[in-house]
Amino acid sequence: MQNVKIKKAILPVAGFGTRMLPATKAQPKEMLVVVDKPAIQYLVEEAVASGIEEVIFVTGRGKRSIEDHFDHSFELEHNLVEKEKHDFLREVRKISSLAKFSYVRQKEPLGDGHAISCASHLIGNEPILIMFGDCLYDSTVPPAKQLIDTYNKYNQPVIGLSRVEMNIVNKFGVIDGLEIIKGNYEISKLVEKPKIEDAPSNLVAVGKYIITPRVLQILDNMPSASSGEIRLTDAFSQMLENGELLYGKELDGEWLDIGDKLSFIKATIKLGLNNKDIGLGLKEFMKSLNI
Ligand code: UTP
Repeated sequence: MQNVKIKKAILPVAGFGTRMLPATKAQPKEMLVVVDKPAIQYLVEEAVASGIEEVIFVTGRGKRSIEDHFDHSFELEHNLVEKEKHDFLREVRKISSLAKFSYVRQKEPLGDGHAISCASHLIGNEPILIMFGDCLYDSTVPPAKQLIDTYNKYNQPVIGLSRVEMNIVNKFGVIDGLEIIKGNYEISKLVEKPKIEDAPSNLVAVGKYIITPRVLQILDNMPSASSGEIRLTDAFSQMLENGELLYGKELDGEWLDIGDKLSFIKATIKLGLNNKDIGLGLKEFMKSLNI
């Protein structure tokens, strides 16, 4: 497939967010606030800044607040107009006009790959951006844009990568591959949560991808693994076994994983320090802790 403008993103957000319980018992982990907005808004803004025009959320039970967040909010906007709170009004209106939003339900959380394939009927013969809900970045060029640029070089699926300390590599999907040009890898192997001693590298998949119709075709026909889940990683592994090409892009910037409690707090502090309204105050507070 030759260069086609990537206009659509699928954001699977139907997972349970177990690692963030009890915070996620009655609210989606994607709606947890990082500094001043829900995590999912960072992702949508990143997608839009990378040229995406249509965002497809794959939602599930208990995820209605995501739809409400990206919807027009008549009562709230009316109230802000009456109170002449113009700055807030602008902020609120901006959210619902960021992109064209669609929603698909995943009836049961049968894995991230299954969630993606729930949206395949909304996708034509085109490459798509995939973003998982717990992967934020502090970077100059939006990571999604970096992935799209990499796709445009190779016209094959691309996995967003980051390096982690070797002692935590067992929590992630780890790749082996050949660095063809700086930061761009031709992937030869993808191992999900390997033992530290067996990990082929410390380059891990962060939860951002460009996939092609071929990947969707594999996902749509894939039987569940022994775990009962259909995972995107398994589709990639199948492609590698068939000798099909798969690329990796080591993303420039700092990966802010927000999928577990400690990394969520670290990301909040990092983005809080960068924030123009609260950054200085937070820095003073951190210094005052004397730790
Ligand atoms: P995660 O592996 O992070 O799962 O899924 P999770 O449920 O969100 O979190 P934990 O591990 O239980 O704490 C990666 C992405 O795929 C979505 C998640 O919402 C997340 O964005 N997902 C996962 C689905 O949409 N459906 C699923 O069945 C599984």
